[in-house]
Amino acid sequence: MQMFNNVDFDSIDITQEPPEEEPARQYYFIAKCRKYVKEQSERLGRPLFSVVRTFGCQMNAKDSEKLAGVLKQIGFCEGTCEEADLVLYNTCTVRDNANQKVYGHLGYLQALKKKNPHMLIALCGCMMQEPEVIGRIRKTYPFVDLVFGTHNVFLLAELLCRRLNEKGMVVDIWEAARDIVEELPARRKYPFKSGVNIMYGCNNFCSYCIVPYVRGRERSRKPDEILREVQKLVADGVKEVMLLGQNVNSYGKTLDKPVTFAWLLRQVGQIEGLERIRFMTSHPKDLSQELIEAMRDGGKVCRHLHLPLQSGSSRILESMNRRYTKEQYLELASRIREAIPQISLTTDIIVGYPGETEEDFQETLDVVRKVRFDSAFTFIYSKRSGTPAAAMEGQVLESIVKERFDRLLKEVQQISAQVCARDLGTVQPVLVESVNGHQDGYVSGRLSNNLLVHFPGDGSYVGQIVPVRLTQAKGFYYMGKIEGE
Ligand code: 5AD
Ligand code: SF4
Repeated sequence: MQMFNNVDFDSIDITQEPPEEEPARQYYFIAKCRKYVKEQSERLGRPLFSVVRTFGCQMNAKDSEKLAGVLKQIGFCEGTCEEADLVLYNTCTVRDNANQKVYGHLGYLQALKKKNPHMLIALCGCMMQEPEVIGRIRKTYPFVDLVFGTHNVFLLAELLCRRLNEKGMVVDIWEAARDIVEELPARRKYPFKSGVNIMYGCNNFCSYCIVPYVRGRERSRKPDEILREVQKLVADGVKEVMLLGQNVNSYGKTLDKPVTFAWLLRQVGQIEGLERIRFMTSHPKDLSQELIEAMRDGGKVCRHLHLPLQSGSSRILESMNRRYTKEQYLELASRIREAIPQISLTTDIIVGYPGETEEDFQETLDVVRKVRFDSAFTFIYSKRSGTPAAAMEGQVLESIVKERFDRLLKEVQQISAQVCARDLGTVQPVLVESVNGHQDGYVSGRLSNNLLVHFPGDGSYVGQIVPVRLTQAKGFYYMGKIEGE
C-alpha cells in the first residue's frame, strides 16, 4: 500500500475518468503511473530508478523536491546517476552558461537512451519557458520525452501519463501561473532543514534579468498556508527553514489582507520546536526598518543576510532599474550592521553590464571595500534575449570584463578571508548537516551566519545543533571541536 495524506494510491479506481479538481486529479494520475512502473519493473525483473537533477537556485531545488516526491509515489526508486529509467532536469536560465550546460548533458543522455530505449527523459524549469529553447529541443533533441515549465510543476504525473499513452514528445508550457496546487508529496533532501516557498515570481524587472519573464508575476502564498507547512515540517523533525521568494521583502503586499514580511517572520518565529529561520532573497530597495528589527529581536532568525548589490555605481544601478543608489545601499548596510553586529552580509555582483566604464567598476570596488562582505557571488554579465539590457548600446568587450572580474574576485576573496575569521576562538551553535566526505571521523555543519565548520564527530550528530569551538579559520570555513568533549 502506498499512502500519502491518507490517500491509498492503489485503491484509486483508474478505470474511471480522472477527477477535475486538484489535487485529486494528480493523485489519480499518480495511481495510473504506478501501474506502468509496476508492470515495467516486473517485465525487467528489477526496480525502476529515477533521478532529478537541479540547476540553479533554491527555488528550483524546492521544486525538485516536489518532483522527486511525486516520482517516489509513482514507484520509482531514487537513482544516483543518469543511468536511470527516468531522468528529469530542472533547468535554470538566469545566465547563458546554465543553458549551455543542459544542452551539453542532453548529448550524454541521448547515448544512454540508445542503451536503454525505455528510458524517459524529461525537462522542466525556467529555461523551458523560453520559446527559442523549445524550438531548439524539438529540432535537435527529438529523443526528449517530456517538457514542461515553471507554472505546471504539479502536473508531472498527468504529463507522464500522457507520454506513456502517446507517441512523441509531450510539451506543456503555460505562459502564466494559474492556481497554486498544494498537498502534493515531496521528497526532502535533508530531514532536518527545508525550504518553504512564501511567494512565487518577481515584479521588479531589473533590466538584465530574465526571471520575471520565466517565473511570472509576483504571487504571495497565504500566511496560514505557510505557517501550517512550517508546523508540519517541524512535527516531521525539521529544525531550520529557509523562506523562499525572489524578493521576500515585498511578501504579502498583494494579498487580500496585506501583511509584511517582517510580520510573517515574527509569526514563523513563534512556532515551537523550530530552531532556525533563514530567508532568500532580499531586494535592498524595500528592506524595511521593521524587518531589521524583526531580525534583531527574533532569536531564531539566522545571522545572515543576502543583499544583492549588483553594481556600486549609481548610474549603472539606475540603468539596471534597481531603484536604489550607491549611497542608499551603503546607508542600509551600515544600519543593518549597527542593529545586528554579528550579521554576515553576502551579496551578488554583476561585472560588465552594458555601458559599465572603469569608473563605474571602481565604484563597485569601493562598495566592496566599505561594506566588507562576508562573501560575494560574482557574475559576468550574460545577455538574456528579451530583457531591456540585451538591446542596450555599449556591450563591454569580453577581455575587459574578464580582467575586471578577476580584479573583483581577488578583492572579494581577500576581504572575505579576513571578515570570516571574526568568530575565531568563540563557541557557536552549529547545525550538523553531514558526515564529512573528505576527512574520516569528521562531520560538517553550519553556523547561524551560514559559514561551514568541520569538526570531529560521527553520523549520530547529523541533524543536531551542537556547541562548537572554532579553532582554525580557513577563509570561507572553520575547523572546530565540540565544546565540552
Ligand atoms: N547576467 C549575469 N548575472 C545575472 N544575474 C541575474 N541575471 C543576470 C545576468 N543576465 C545574477 C544577479 C542575481 C543572481 C541570482 O544572478 O546577480 O542576483
Ligand atoms: Fe531578477 Fe531583479 Fe527579480 Fe532578482 S529582483 S529576480 S535580479 S528581476
